[in-house]
Amino acid sequence: INKIILDSDPGIDDAMAILFAEAHPAIELKAITTVYGNATIENGTNNALYLKEKYGFKADIVQGTDRPLVRDPVGPTVIVHGETGFGDVHAPKVTTLQADPRPAYQYIIDAVKAEPGEITLVAVGPLTNLALALEAAPEITSLVKEVVIMGGAFGMNEHRGNVTPYAEANIHDDPHAADIVFTAPWPVVVIGLDVTEESFFSKDYLDQLRDDAGEVGQFIWDISRYYLDFYSKKVGLEGCHVHDPSAIAYVIDPTLFTLREGPIRVVTDGPAEGLTIQKFDGRKHPHDDWGSKPAQKVGVKVRNEALLELYRETI
Ligand code: BDR
Ligand code: CA
Repeated sequence: INKIILDSDPGIDDAMAILFAEAHPAIELKAITTVYGNATIENGTNNALYLKEKYGFKADIVQGTDRPLVRDPVGPTVIVHGETGFGDVHAPKVTTLQADPRPAYQYIIDAVKAEPGEITLVAVGPLTNLALALEAAPEITSLVKEVVIMGGAFGMNEHRGNVTPYAEANIHDDPHAADIVFTAPWPVVVIGLDVTEESFFSKDYLDQLRDDAGEVGQFIWDISRYYLDFYSKKVGLEGCHVHDPSAIAYVIDPTLFTLREGPIRVVTDGPAEGLTIQKFDGRKHPHDDWGSKPAQKVGVKVRNEALLELYRETI
């Protein structure tokens, strides 16, 4: 069983990932730590509490930071995820449950130290909480089992950026944090647009989920109406990519993905701000100040039919 802390900015596809993790027997969802991104931190945390209340999760809900480390905040992606993060579904303010009193980075440090070698961090939002945890307690790098990240785009299969021509949203929201997390000496697996944009929830797939998967299927259908409208009008697709659930799929079945190894860096400013780059050859460069960073893994191929079937079966 994989014990995970899911760091998330809930978020339509975040909710799809949370419900996936909660439903699969190979995963124990210990906590959802929240971060600004798709929604404000207040709305994101309330959305997580709402899911916990609605479905009776055991997972702790922990509020994280409301801003990036260095850059100016980009602000919620209302056009993609709606005013409060769940599209047309506006979760009422949850009053029966409360978030853990600690800030997310402190919760992560405490949890990792309490169970050395046991916890996988899965991050599907901007990487600020993880970077703050690393800054406050660098020793956690040797205590975490694995760090699985939905973020970035490495140019495979023609996939580059989704918020700028070369940047993916989670990395663009806090490129400095992402660079810290990718270059830390802990095992990182990056599931970026290269693979998440290769998997697609069609309109029919979501309709079938609604028909076959009870209340959870209906909820996923409800929140995805707004998302599908965005995809139809702005991306020109009748359905949506499978971003955050792909990171959970990796934890459940790593064989779904083909990975490439090498150090990763992030461009932190300028026109390519948020661009992720991996050095994957053994070449020696005369001016190389980052090739010596730890080798990390990047998803370059996915067995998307198997992933869609895993999601459907689980939900
Ligand atoms: C990522 O950005 C967010 O909008 C999604 O929730 C996902 O984590 C995709 O680029
Ligand atoms: Ca997300």
